[in-house]
Amino acid sequence: MTRRAAIILAAGQGTRMKSSLPKVLHRVGHRAMLDHAIDAAEALGCERIVVVVGNHSPEVRAHVVKRLGEEAIAVQDPPLGTGHAVRAAEQALAGFDGEVVITYGDVPLLKARDIDPVFGSEGVSVIGFEARDPGAYGRLVIEGETLVAITEAKEASAEVLAITTCNSGVMAAPASLLFRLLADVTNANAKGEYYLTDVVELARKAGAPTRAVFADEDAVMGVNAQGELAQAEALFQKVQRETFLAAGVTMAAPDTVHFAWDTEIGAGTTVEPFVVFGPGAKIAGGARIRSFSHVEGAAIASGAEVGPYARLRPGADLGEGVRIGNFVEVKNVRMDAGAKANHLSYLGDGEVGAGANIGAGTIFCNYDGFFKYRTTVGKGAFVGSNSALVAPVTIGAGAMVGSGSVITKDVAAGDLALGRVAQVAKSGWATRFIETMKAKKAAKAK
Ligand code: UD1
Ligand code: MG
Repeated sequence: MTRRAAIILAAGQGTRMKSSLPKVLHRVGHRAMLDHAIDAAEALGCERIVVVVGNHSPEVRAHVVKRLGEEAIAVQDPPLGTGHAVRAAEQALAGFDGEVVITYGDVPLLKARDIDPVFGSEGVSVIGFEARDPGAYGRLVIEGETLVAITEAKEASAEVLAITTCNSGVMAAPASLLFRLLADVTNANAKGEYYLTDVVELARKAGAPTRAVFADEDAVMGVNAQGELAQAEALFQKVQRETFLAAGVTMAAPDTVHFAWDTEIGAGTTVEPFVVFGPGAKIAGGARIRSFSHVEGAAIASGAEVGPYARLRPGADLGEGVRIGNFVEVKNVRMDAGAKANHLSYLGDGEVGAGANIGAGTIFCNYDGFFKYRTTVGKGAFVGSNSALVAPVTIGAGAMVGSGSVITKDVAAGDLALGRVAQVAKSGWATRFIETMKAKKAAKAK
């Protein structure tokens, strides 16, 4: 395999998104579109990745610098066309003598395996696709095995416009050839732009081979407006659902389940209708996620059951056979095997030992308005319903907390703690009260 590099174009303004967030930072499957493009370039083995950004979006630059470093940035300003954008990356690739692929920060569904066939030629290769509606796409003029030209729709004759084989925009060529050809591209065309696509005809004139390889139209879709972003998300979810079903996850209504780009679920797990996975969810095989649960940044072991209506937030770490029931929120808490919190609780920052039972309505009071503190509940402990555990606090192994307690001090192992007003019994008081009040009401009615 020759050495590979990628140039990712992301200098467009994205005005049609009508959003203050730069277009390529909008997310598909909870991951920025630009990161999907970088993921593909990395998976292709590209040793150098250059992202072409405009000066209008410092957020995009910062995003790239954070992930890939300053050396990954090339600035194109003003944007004078796709050919001009690629030229802007020439300096950043100085000294690189392998093959370069050009991809796009707003094409989030294109995977490494779709792009891979574009490599391996001594000339120029592009990824084409059969368009349902060719519209404004560049048309691929192909004769036999040769790509003769890419003609932009604005420049095309009626005959060429009738071609439905279109340019995805993805192109690869040896770096030296690519930049040599780009130096000859002009902007003498309908849009007054430097078209990257012109390098095909220039390559032919220079005697270099030119060809098209093909991908699915859904995979090459670009996002320019919110409707297309939603469409990309739908396609992304469709692939995730099919992948998990094929991997042995049981879903009665897969269309109602939403996944993130990095969701992991083992075979033999059941996901009921209307479950949403945010980023960072790792679910082992043989678990059960019940309807209307939201799971993000959480690990769930085999045999655990979550929901219906549960919320697992980052750092929730559920051991084997743990049960989290309805309206329970868990954040940054490790629950050891067999621990239970079945109803209406907030468990934040702490740990719960094996087999412990957290009663309905229990709250881990973890925050004083300034800092967060931890709550530790020992193995086999029993926390009665409607208790507030004011952190930092430890409930020892096998200890019990009486219902309705506010626990502010540690409870030793095996003890019972009661932190509530003692019950008072007033003999016959209710009966006397009712009789008195009934009499008063009757007197008034007269
Ligand atoms: C381009 C192709 C067309 C192809 C289509 C696929 C050219 C001349 N045409 O057309 O054949 O069918 O994509 O969607 O290449 N960009 C920059 N700097 C620029 C111009 C563009 O970074 O100066 C980026 C944009 O942000 C965008 C991408 O390049 O992500 C494509 O640019 P766009 O202007 O949308 O090209 P099209 O006219 O759609
Ligand atoms: Mg476009």
